[in-house]
Amino acid sequence: MCGIVAAVAGRNVVPVLLEGLRKLEYRGYDSAGLAVLNGCPSALLRLRSVGRVAELTAQADACSAAGGTGIAHTRWATHGVPSERNAHPHLSGGLAVVHNGIIENHEALRESLKAVGYVFTSDTDTEVVAHLVELKLRTIPDLFETVRAALGDLQGAYALAVMREDDASRIIVAREGSPLLLGMGEDGHYAASDASALLQVTRRMVYLENGDCAEITRAGLRIVRGDGTPVVRAVVESQLSADAVELGTYAHYMQKEIFEQPDALANTLEMVGNARSLQPGLFGADAEAVLGGARQILILACGTSWHAGLVARYWLEAIAGISCSVEIASEYRYRDSVPDAETLVVTISQSGETADTLAALQHAKGLGMQRTLAICNVPESSLVRETALRFITRAGPEIGVASTKAFTTQLAALYLLTLVMAKLRGRLDAATEVQELKALRHVPAAVQKVLALEPEIKAWAQLFSHKQHTLFLGRGRHYPIALEGALKLKEISYIHAEAYPAGELKHGPLALVDKEMPVIAVAPNDALLEKLKSNLQEVRARGGELFVFADADSEMVESEGIHVLRLPEHYGALSALLHVVPLQLLSYHVALVKGTDVDKPRNLAKSVTVE
Ligand code: F6R
Repeated sequence: MCGIVAAVAGRNVVPVLLEGLRKLEYRGYDSAGLAVLNGCPSALLRLRSVGRVAELTAQADACSAAGGTGIAHTRWATHGVPSERNAHPHLSGGLAVVHNGIIENHEALRESLKAVGYVFTSDTDTEVVAHLVELKLRTIPDLFETVRAALGDLQGAYALAVMREDDASRIIVAREGSPLLLGMGEDGHYAASDASALLQVTRRMVYLENGDCAEITRAGLRIVRGDGTPVVRAVVESQLSADAVELGTYAHYMQKEIFEQPDALANTLEMVGNARSLQPGLFGADAEAVLGGARQILILACGTSWHAGLVARYWLEAIAGISCSVEIASEYRYRDSVPDAETLVVTISQSGETADTLAALQHAKGLGMQRTLAICNVPESSLVRETALRFITRAGPEIGVASTKAFTTQLAALYLLTLVMAKLRGRLDAATEVQELKALRHVPAAVQKVLALEPEIKAWAQLFSHKQHTLFLGRGRHYPIALEGALKLKEISYIHAEAYPAGELKHGPLALVDKEMPVIAVAPNDALLEKLKSNLQEVRARGGELFVFADADSEMVESEGIHVLRLPEHYGALSALLHVVPLQLLSYHVALVKGTDVDKPRNLAKSVTVE
């Protein structure tokens, strides 16, 4: 969480910092701030705002802020409420610091720094870094060496940028556990939490590794490891399209990303575009050996990505015949489990920077499980660099905090994994393989047809906007789709929503149902439909109003208190990919009616890089 940008260039960097922050706002938007150095001797100007980057921009314009060296930050609050005093940059003497991550030993450091006379002006963990570096600067006059020395005292996760009032020629940055990359521009050097912030000035990026500390100047960059050994990191030409992060004609990123799903799926499935057979190599060079030798599967993920894993379990067990468990990453890493070295560990993440998922992967590897696969949307992410195998979903940048196209592309990748595992295990004959590939190739067109239901869904949204609570029901592989629908609704419309496997209703939650409780049912025409219909009768008998997403060929009849919307096609094992789309649209339109901030819902951030 939090986004940082830093720049040392032969021009005024304030517009670069502000534009970078605008691109990074998805990482947190509780406050924004920047500091720039100008003149000789340089004077430090700091601006902070509790509002969005737009307000910071207005402040910068009002005072004609300018300077060739600067750092900037957009915050997702962890320590200390969102307020101006807690907004970054934090200062100590002539130093300014921005930070993404959590300094776990900040309390002990704070006490020791107070004991030598430092006065704290914020509640953040970050302020200890500013004072710690300032303290060390008294005995180690070189800023690069000072920051390196200070890093040795820090525990936790950080991406840091530090600059000093009396030396406008450089900025020191460091990475441990939180993403950070450097940009090599024509007229200077830059650093940021992700590439989208720097595309405005360069495509040439250098990704820092955990433990790296770097100095950027107008003329160059220098990277060292924790022990001071110089290191050279590869320069990567970013493939990210600048257009991909623009809103275009859409009102919100979430809307854009929902409607991009046919293209995102087509891109993700491009590698099997003309194929008549599936190759394990889709998952990496050693995939045949790594996947083929796996005795069971363990999926680790958080949030929406965890829901994708839950759907995949139904597929992997039913189609590939391999035992599969799915764990919330933050739980797995802290429980005593029974490891099996021949387990395939599949981590799923849109960002590839989710701290809990990264830590769960490390935990699994530490328990001896080396067969690892990342399904991820960001090729340069930390996760992708830490697994033996990888599949990059090609959803393109996902900016809206609520995940949509990342989810459906994850499902497409997981279905491919299921088919490859089935084939490696002798459970996929050639004719079925051809049919399955054909069905997969049709998914983008099928999703396109579901999107055409938007007007009807928009009309339904009006009926939800005044509700306090909603229940979502599904069965089998559509139960995780109900979970995903409930998560989408709560995160962007703030309506309390719970999802249950429909058969579980009578074991407790039915007590909640009355005429004020709308119940949304995911009801594809599958083997469980008749059972689901009985569960829906139980709801109707208690006065609950039903909103049913059925398939074209389902015998679901509209009647009083039962609204039915039919999806254009009935799509067998892949129907989870289709049935999630109307739930995304419903949440989006309910949020619009309620007037919430769709792309930046309260209290959330896109990339959860803290524990
Ligand atoms: C919900 C949402 C989150 C993420 C979760 C994991 O809409 O976006 O629940 O799915 O924070 O993020 P990634 O997939 O980046 O690991």
